[in-house]
Amino acid sequence: MPATTDPVIREIRDGDIPAAIALWHAAGVARPWNDPETDIAFARRGPHGTVLVAETGGRIAATAMAGEDGHRGWVYYVAVAPEHQGGGLGRAVMAAAEAWLARRGVWKVQLLVRADNRPATRFYERLGYRDTGAVCLQKVIAPEA
Ligand SMILES: CC(C)(COP(=O)(O)OP(=O)(O)OC[C@H]1O[C@@H](n2cnc3c(N)ncnc32)[C@H](O)[C@@H]1OP(=O)(O)O)[C@@H](O)C(=O)NCCC(=O)NCCS
Repeated sequence: MPATTDPVIREIRDGDIPAAIALWHAAGVARPWNDPETDIAFARRGPHGTVLVAETGGRIAATAMAGEDGHRGWVYYVAVAPEHQGGGLGRAVMAAAEAWLARRGVWKVQLLVRADNRPATRFYERLGYRDTGAVCLQKVIAPEA
């Protein structure tokens, strides 16, 4: 397994976007109903959101989208390139996302995990996340930008 110690974790740059999207497809977090370019642009449109990337050996090996909504912090698109999974990059990119949110005054972070993604649930539990028992309801209120 490649060494994944000491990654550089930073905010995404324009030139990183194709690699980040390729990583999302490889890691299985891209969804046909979400346009990844739109999602990245929306996260970066203001000071309340970002996409973080972890770079190792000059390549993007992990990502996390973080944002605050005026009440809670949220994390999306947590993904580690398959060849780097199990090497600590998921923990590292989540720590960076939590630190990014904490710097903006956020004190609770939450995230959504598909019910059938048990490995991801176990990963988040290992990081201290707990099931709130809440049901997520969603409604489309505007056409996509
Ligand atoms: C889930 C994912 C982000 C985890 O990243 P990772 O780099 O593989 O995880 P790490 O190596 O940083 O693991 C961190 C800790 O979680 C534990 N962990 C990771 N995956 C686990 C699993 N499937 N079951 C139990 N524990 C797990 C590790 O043992 C490690 O524990 P430790 O640091 O106390 O020893 C990564 O596997 C991934 O990208 N999966 C596919 C995409 C995905 O499902 N993303 C989440 C969408 S909600």
